[in-house]
Amino acid sequence: MRNRSMDAALILTLVALVLCSCATAAPVSPRERLSFNADWRFIKEDPPGTGDKLTYENLKGWVNATGAEFAPGAPSTKRPEGNLGEDVAYTQAAFDDSAWRKLNLPHDWGIEGPFKQEYPGSTGKLPWFGVAWYRKHFEMPASDQGRRVFLDVDGAMSYANVWLNGQYVGGWPFGYASWRLDLTPHLKYGAQNILAVRLDNPPESSRWYPGGGIYRNVWLVKTSPVHVGQWGTYVTTPEVSPAAATVSIQVKVANAGASDATVSVKNDIYEIDANGRRGRSVASHSADAVKVAASGTQTAESKITVKNPRLWSVRTPQRYVAVTSISQGGKLMDVYETLFGIRTIRFDADKGFFLNGERVYLKGFCNHHDLGALGAAINVRALERQLEILQAMGGNAIRTSHNPPAPELLDLADRMGFLISDEAFDCWAGSKQRRSGADYARLFPDWHEKDWRAQLRRDRNHPSVILWSTGNEVREQGQPEGHKISARLTAIAHEEDPTRPTTVGCNNLQAAYNGFQKTLDVFGYNYKPKEYGKAHEANPGLPIYGSETASCISSRGEYFFPVTVDKAGGQADFQMSSYDLYAPPWATPPDWEFKGQDEFPFVAGEFVWTGFDYLGEPTPYNSDRTNLLNFTDPEERARAEKQLQEVGRIRTPSRSSYFGIVDLAGFAKDRFYIYQARWRPELPMAHILPHWNWPDRVGQVTPVHVYTSGDEAELFLNGQSLGRKKKGQFEYRLRWDEVVYQPGELKVVAYKAGKKWAEDVMKTTGPAAQLALRPDRDRIQADGRDLSFVTVTVADKSGLLVPRSKNAIRFEIEGPGEIVATDNGDATSFESFQAPERKAFNGLALVIVRAKPGQAGTIKLTAKSERLTAGSATIKTVAEK
Ligand code: GAL
Repeated sequence: MRNRSMDAALILTLVALVLCSCATAAPVSPRERLSFNADWRFIKEDPPGTGDKLTYENLKGWVNATGAEFAPGAPSTKRPEGNLGEDVAYTQAAFDDSAWRKLNLPHDWGIEGPFKQEYPGSTGKLPWFGVAWYRKHFEMPASDQGRRVFLDVDGAMSYANVWLNGQYVGGWPFGYASWRLDLTPHLKYGAQNILAVRLDNPPESSRWYPGGGIYRNVWLVKTSPVHVGQWGTYVTTPEVSPAAATVSIQVKVANAGASDATVSVKNDIYEIDANGRRGRSVASHSADAVKVAASGTQTAESKITVKNPRLWSVRTPQRYVAVTSISQGGKLMDVYETLFGIRTIRFDADKGFFLNGERVYLKGFCNHHDLGALGAAINVRALERQLEILQAMGGNAIRTSHNPPAPELLDLADRMGFLISDEAFDCWAGSKQRRSGADYARLFPDWHEKDWRAQLRRDRNHPSVILWSTGNEVREQGQPEGHKISARLTAIAHEEDPTRPTTVGCNNLQAAYNGFQKTLDVFGYNYKPKEYGKAHEANPGLPIYGSETASCISSRGEYFFPVTVDKAGGQADFQMSSYDLYAPPWATPPDWEFKGQDEFPFVAGEFVWTGFDYLGEPTPYNSDRTNLLNFTDPEERARAEKQLQEVGRIRTPSRSSYFGIVDLAGFAKDRFYIYQARWRPELPMAHILPHWNWPDRVGQVTPVHVYTSGDEAELFLNGQSLGRKKKGQFEYRLRWDEVVYQPGELKVVAYKAGKKWAEDVMKTTGPAAQLALRPDRDRIQADGRDLSFVTVTVADKSGLLVPRSKNAIRFEIEGPGEIVATDNGDATSFESFQAPERKAFNGLALVIVRAKPGQAGTIKLTAKSERLTAGSATIKTVAEK
């Protein structure tokens, strides 16, 4: 189990860089990076009378003045003239916001619901859209006079504009971008300051649930006038051998002072030890003198040799930290930390991807940013849990589909050993929202360069990042004019970081042949396993991989009969059968992609759509349907029939995806095991599907499929062999399609190279009798962030999960903890994620528990349900020192 305090320590290293492994006390850094998440005020909607004043169209001119340093040659960095929203009540310092709701960030207003049938299923049937305001009152000590003070926002959804003490400071529209505003000119020292932030989420601005609010962390950064600029270091490792590595460190020094400054820049490199702390000092480079003009910046470059470097890899994610110290006239002006890794990467057109000279097959997932029941609000433990689950499946890579991720995802990937395809956009100038054009296409002309350079500078020191993905299924793939856009985005990436290749997730078959492919360093095909060979032949020298694969759809624990061979089958009750054979027209079951990958071994690997279910995009139930979808429950069917007669359609209740290998609550679907079997061939495992509780199917054919890392297996029903089967070429599952159901015990014995390898057993259970609770961690930090994810199982007398149980469960909590959210993985549930009650979905429910900040003690969580024996779990909370 990972030590939580170490994560906290890592984050804190960026705050005050004063710790040193050596005995002598290090000087206190003049830089402070303070969490700015606490004590905000919040309200939905503009004040009356605001009208169109603050719409993007009307504000565009002055919002565009922000972030000019990311678009060289941009017209102006100056605050424009005119009314900058300063006449709107909520921007004004004197406005009384005491009646507004109090909350802490990160915050996602959409996840609070309620779900509504009339909201679009594509964005989760949740109210993430519209306008909202946040205000924060804070004291600025008089002693900070003379320092620079920045507001760093990791992400706010979306069209953010910021006023300080009634004056407009700036804005950043892209909801996934991280950005900085200089508050210094507007601050009052030794006094209260009032910050106002307005967000605006246009309807139809997203194809999935984007969340709404300041949903990532916010920081207040205080520096000397002379300091390391925003994301001001760039660390690369141009030469790496077992004996030595050259580490190049570029430091961009900013001088916000009124006179020129001559400063010295020193870099010290330390190992990050196994506990995530700064360890052994390994090299240092003493001061270079750099002259920085008043109000200017200057870059200093050092090359440092690290002897016997410990390379960053997926298996051994060794990190280093570069500590940059800036002094002026012997006085320390700034200390800044950059975490990095020493490693080499290379894509080879004929052999795939190489990390440190070794072929690493990309076992990847596309993931959206939401965290299920927690919504879009970033939580490091929730993300870490996702990565742990993906790693247990054998995964090693993530594509941040289709936008810049939270910075914490990259920190976790560096620490845990994931490879990242760091993606920027879901669309370029051509909108995917044909009706409204309200997606990124609206911002693209003015913002793509700023957004893209900002992302590149923010993320380019992470060893985990191996690809810069400029887009996903962009419409420009088929347009010669659009190819120029692609070439330009690649050129920007090369300017900011020549060490990594660019890519795009291409769904247009022609993109590998029509010239689009020439604008990319590495070619990504979405859903084209049969095309790899042809594309490779047509493009010698161009590496290729599956940027988006499978898109199989299933609901955990649901199985429908007969098991059809048609991949469009398997639907009922707004659920998808979990035989893992079903996919939308453009997509494939997992096995089809495996075949493509195995037939063409030059393919670098795949990124499956998706690791986790996500809010929104509930394909195939995206829109209201007029067919009866083969309802299996007679009551449901009667209700649907009535609805169909009355309103001419059946309202689709689905609000989250079916694509995940893991469901929205984090519970593995059967598909988890087909990937585990392939990606962890050394792990002895076998997995039987379906469950074996079919009282209504006695005597009927009920196919049994087995996923195993073995190559052969024998299936037994109640002790009788149903035959031993061997995987043929390009076969990834073993199938007994003629099994006639009778209750009892199914058992599979798997073999590898003729030797017994693994077993799995599936038993018919008794009726539901009890609830069993299992926390993923029974000890958590009482820091207001750390979480325990508690799995609740509806079990029979002997403790077996009862497959089709949907019992309503109530949760009670005692001690220093609170229930943050509950879930069950059912894509059609309209139960509130915040409610302390939830129906089980096919035997499982989830409770997410957080400790109250600063309170050490023991939390007791109890689950109760009619006619079942209650269950409970205890979780210890550890107060921060
Ligand atoms: C792809 C698209 C993804 C998602 C997926 C569902 O075409 O890139 O964002 O929509 O389809 O299968």
